[in-house]
Amino acid sequence: MFGLTRAKKAGAVALATTAAAATALLGAPTAVAAPQPIVGGTTTTTTAYPFMMQITDASQNQFCGGTLVSATKVVTAAHCMVGETTSSVRVVGGRTYLNGTNGTVSRVSKIWINPDYTDATNGDDVAVLTLSTSMPYTKASYVSSSQTSVYAAGTTARIVGWGTTSENGSSSNQLRTATVPIVSDSSCKSSYGSDYVQTDMVCAGYTSGGTDTCQGDSGGPLLIGGVLAGITSWGEGCAQAGYPGVYTRLTTFSSLVTAQVNS
Ligand code: ARG
Repeated sequence: MFGLTRAKKAGAVALATTAAAATALLGAPTAVAAPQPIVGGTTTTTTAYPFMMQITDASQNQFCGGTLVSATKVVTAAHCMVGETTSSVRVVGGRTYLNGTNGTVSRVSKIWINPDYTDATNGDDVAVLTLSTSMPYTKASYVSSSQTSVYAAGTTARIVGWGTTSENGSSSNQLRTATVPIVSDSSCKSSYGSDYVQTDMVCAGYTSGGTDTCQGDSGGPLLIGGVLAGITSWGEGCAQAGYPGVYTRLTTFSSLVTAQVNS
């Protein structure tokens, strides 16, 4: 009960602060002395993760991540796209640093938000963007609807993003990555109660916390065996013991995504 309320609140706060956090990003001094990665991980590059896209506002201030799954299609979180329009959003590929000016910037010609989406804690947190400009980068493969066994508890998954490096910290100027184990449905249910919708979500993180996605990482990939298997969605705070990160369970939405990729 208690955990449920707090998780709902955390979800709402994450949504409300996305735009503000985006605005604050480039104004912040370079986050060299950031305490930890994503939260707990290492720096990396878009050369290592070429499908890793920045989702930005029209001024190229990053506020979410996304994954390139074809030359003109990017998978992200529905909650990242709430209130956005095709003219308010850009997708930036090949740019390791938030303050960089390199890479490829594309406008978005279509935003598809899962029509069932209401709130991240209710599930359905998936969106697909259609780009106006092709991205000349290697795309990621994503799970098919039948590959549900990839989420076996204990499986190592990789998270990637520019999000804050501590719960109330600042974003990372350089792309970061970390690995986290997949958490069982029963364990995640005991953390989050009815906010954990196991058909639509999967949890990942250490029991003791310390490594997690955080604000600004949303929409980015959870990779299992190098394949896109989840989308950063929500959590109670960040990297807290007993509260793993919650990711969109992509197998559930794989067919919907494919319909958009082929549209
Ligand atoms: N909702 C956040 C965002 O918009 C992502 C939160 C992930 N939280 C976590 N503890 N894993 O960036």
